[in-house]
Amino acid sequence: MASLLITGGAGFIGSHTVLVLLEAGHELVVLDNFANSSPIALDRVMELAPADASKRLQVIEGDVRCAEDLDRAFCAASASIAGVVHFAGRKAVRESVEQPLLYWDVNLGGTRSLAEAMGRHGCGLVVFSSTATVYGEPEVFPLLEEMPTPPVHPYAQTKLAAEQMLAALVRSQDWRVASLRYFNPVGAHPSGRIGEDPNGIPNNLFPYITQVAAGRLERLRVFGDDYPTRDGTGERDYLHVMDLAEAHAVALDHLLQHQGAAQVTLNLGTGHARSVLEVVQAFERATGISIPYEVLPRRAGDVPKLEASPESAAQVLGWRASRSLEQMCRDGWAWQRANPNGYQ
Ligand code: WQD
Repeated sequence: MASLLITGGAGFIGSHTVLVLLEAGHELVVLDNFANSSPIALDRVMELAPADASKRLQVIEGDVRCAEDLDRAFCAASASIAGVVHFAGRKAVRESVEQPLLYWDVNLGGTRSLAEAMGRHGCGLVVFSSTATVYGEPEVFPLLEEMPTPPVHPYAQTKLAAEQMLAALVRSQDWRVASLRYFNPVGAHPSGRIGEDPNGIPNNLFPYITQVAAGRLERLRVFGDDYPTRDGTGERDYLHVMDLAEAHAVALDHLLQHQGAAQVTLNLGTGHARSVLEVVQAFERATGISIPYEVLPRRAGDVPKLEASPESAAQVLGWRASRSLEQMCRDGWAWQRANPNGYQ
């Protein structure tokens, strides 16, 4: 088992991944500045993790842009850090358009200062959180990793730039890098103890639906029903956050077992796009709660459809998403119902 650094480990995907890695027996240092996450998420992870896990998790409050914080994190483990999972970053498309410098600073600058710290501490292995939005506004599906990546907003631009920076370290310094392009992660751990905790009114479809189901919001606003899709509403490739968390553990194993330089760039999705109305119906079936909605005009910046080819991930990692849309709805609702105010 390895000692690993997990940046952004208290966030939505990070917390679920920390749990999976503790279950696999690894020793972890989590570095998080809690800018968009809560330390309570990690307390909850410890409730769910094996009994000996408290000896295998250290939490450092700090920022990936700060060399001192990074050095503290690298020195916190009992053994030298063998690999990093780098979640820490900003992830809201609209915010990235309004505050581009923040995105270049945190997402690219943060990855650069992390890479420098890795160099100082003799670690050249990283699993990087990337995004399906690097494909811009694609028209051909399913999306393959070698298809063009013309990102259309600073969020995607900074993620793609960080992918490219890490790829350069594979070439120049024999690093081992996995860039994982997430499609739309949703749902929660089936216990309902950890899940997604957005600030304020959610931007994303799933948390919006669960808050309508809880009575916190009156009705869903469906952004556009005139897209060139099956029923006219936007289609996305939703995957269960536990499938995504498990993919990180498999990607880490793949890199740890690999001798010499390695670079893999993989889509993580199910390969099945679902429309907004299909998600609403699946949620209603899974929970028995009806979701009132109204159709509004398209949301600026939305693309009609995103759908992964999951074949590279299956070939390279032997990983496929296995949980159904119904499970995503059931588990997301269990989390929302038990935690109406998130971690507060
Ligand atoms: C999905 C579909 C909307 C809300 C994702 C990530 C985001 C970012 C980019 C990740 C679309 C429709 C939504 C609502 C709706 N970063 N919708 N009513 O846009 O694919 O964004 O990629 O890398 O964080 O989530 O996801 O959940 O916002 O929207 O009708 O209230 O639902 O138009 O078709 P999106 P989403």
